[in-house]
Amino acid sequence: MKLTIIFENHAGWKKGLLGYHGFSALVEHDGYRVLVDTGTEGKVLLHNMHELGVEPDSIDALFLTHGHYDHTGGLKAFLEERGEGVGVYAHPGIFERRVALKPRVREIGIPLTRAELEKLGARFYLNDGPKELLPGFISSGEIPRVYWDRAVGYLVREGPYLRDPVRDDMALIVEVKGGIAVITGCGHSGILNIAEHAARLTGKPIKALIGGFHLRGAKTELLRQTVGGLKALGVEGLYAGHCTGTDEYAYLRAHLENVEPLHVGKVVKL
Ligand SMILES: [Fe+2]
Ligand SMILES: [Fe+2]
Repeated sequence: MKLTIIFENHAGWKKGLLGYHGFSALVEHDGYRVLVDTGTEGKVLLHNMHELGVEPDSIDALFLTHGHYDHTGGLKAFLEERGEGVGVYAHPGIFERRVALKPRVREIGIPLTRAELEKLGARFYLNDGPKELLPGFISSGEIPRVYWDRAVGYLVREGPYLRDPVRDDMALIVEVKGGIAVITGCGHSGILNIAEHAARLTGKPIKALIGGFHLRGAKTELLRQTVGGLKALGVEGLYAGHCTGTDEYAYLRAHLENVEPLHVGKVVKL
């Protein structure tokens, strides 16, 4: 498996690539190419894809970790750039209307409707259970919240705003030699819940946990429990970025082996 970070908050490691809040990664495995999320800005996504030599037409399937704008904002530009349609795998909850209330009310959901995206060539395969989308690529399905989770924002339905549990948060599991790689978008389900669920689902050890861990602002108790849980699971490598948080990244790095930062252009090979 070869994973390349296409869209990420951090840049500057590789010349010509742009950093911006959001997440997208290309996963190449067994002859298939799956794009996980599309970042926030289509222009930045396409620029980085071009710089990295990734043709939008070469992508076999899209996997969306959840419906937040910073993971789905580049969808429109990506679909417009492609010559033909593409399968999009996600949870049925991605189209919920959602907002953040601070510092002001703002939309944080997927910026286009399902109909608009279908018109651009998206073929949706929405499922809340575990599912193999391509050989060796498994969607985690909904992730049980055993420990703390890191849900954010509010749902806009009838009546007052409801706290958004971000039920649509799923991870992509890739079966690699000797175990699995687990790719998270924001990690809203809680990174420990995600890791335990992936290990239980497949019965395989985690060779790498890659993505946003959403620990920014987490209390020390939560960080301690996370480190203990990941150690107990025997997670071999951590590649943390996007919404992990600077201080929280430092904590992981100080307490666990094999922790590396994510940045645009970063490659993880397993
Ligand atoms: Fe995010
Ligand atoms: Fe998110």
